[in-house]
Amino acid sequence: MADPSTDREVEITIAADAHEAARLVAERLAEQARSGGSIVLTGGSTPRVAYELAAELEPDWSRVALWWSDERCVEPEDERSNYGMTKKALLDRLETPPDSVHRMRGELGREAGATEYGRQLEGVGAFDLVLLGLGPDGHVASLFPDFPTLDVTGPAAIGSEAGHEPYVDRITLTLPRLCSTRELLFLVAGDGKADAVARALAGPPSHATPGSLARAAEGVTRAVVDRAAAAQL
Ligand code: 6PG
Repeated sequence: MADPSTDREVEITIAADAHEAARLVAERLAEQARSGGSIVLTGGSTPRVAYELAAELEPDWSRVALWWSDERCVEPEDERSNYGMTKKALLDRLETPPDSVHRMRGELGREAGATEYGRQLEGVGAFDLVLLGLGPDGHVASLFPDFPTLDVTGPAAIGSEAGHEPYVDRITLTLPRLCSTRELLFLVAGDGKADAVARALAGPPSHATPGSLARAAEGVTRAVVDRAAAAQL
């Protein structure tokens, strides 16, 4: 669980539409790629355009250690793979690859894959930038509403059943590991997310809305939200 003393304030930027939101996030990713450090990427469909634009804006990611917030337990070539999506949208478009790419090995299954990721994260300090999407139910990474996984504080990564489509097992960072970052950045678009955005970004902390529990423990929490998703703020 995030430290309760963590600042809950979220700096929200409202973009005209989904493309503008993706562009703003792409600029932030490119800036981090230039300065270096650790970036945690997320899955789902919303970030794809941001990843493509980030590769155009900065094709040299050699200063970056790349991590993932969560993964579906499928082969990396499977169209549901978060790594696979990132590879096509970002990694394959770079001129210089990241210094290190730490993908979650979904094909190992949720428990073995999580254990292996936890090992990769041993000794790794706070991340520099964690990017998160937000599900229409308020989930972040593969931390789903009211799941006991929200209370796990020991390991860095855990296995989970799917609480949302696609219904395949998941590997996910735990809340404390996600929140151990100097910046946590939400990217959310679409009117189907308006209720979740209001609860996650402006509501009280609640297990019913995992996004409301995701706040940078060592820095700032920001959100880039398009106008449709911001409708209930
Ligand atoms: C995943 C994610 C997940 C995602 C949200 C939003 O593996 O599905 O990491 O947390 O960010 O479900 O996804 P969309 O952008 O597709 O709505």
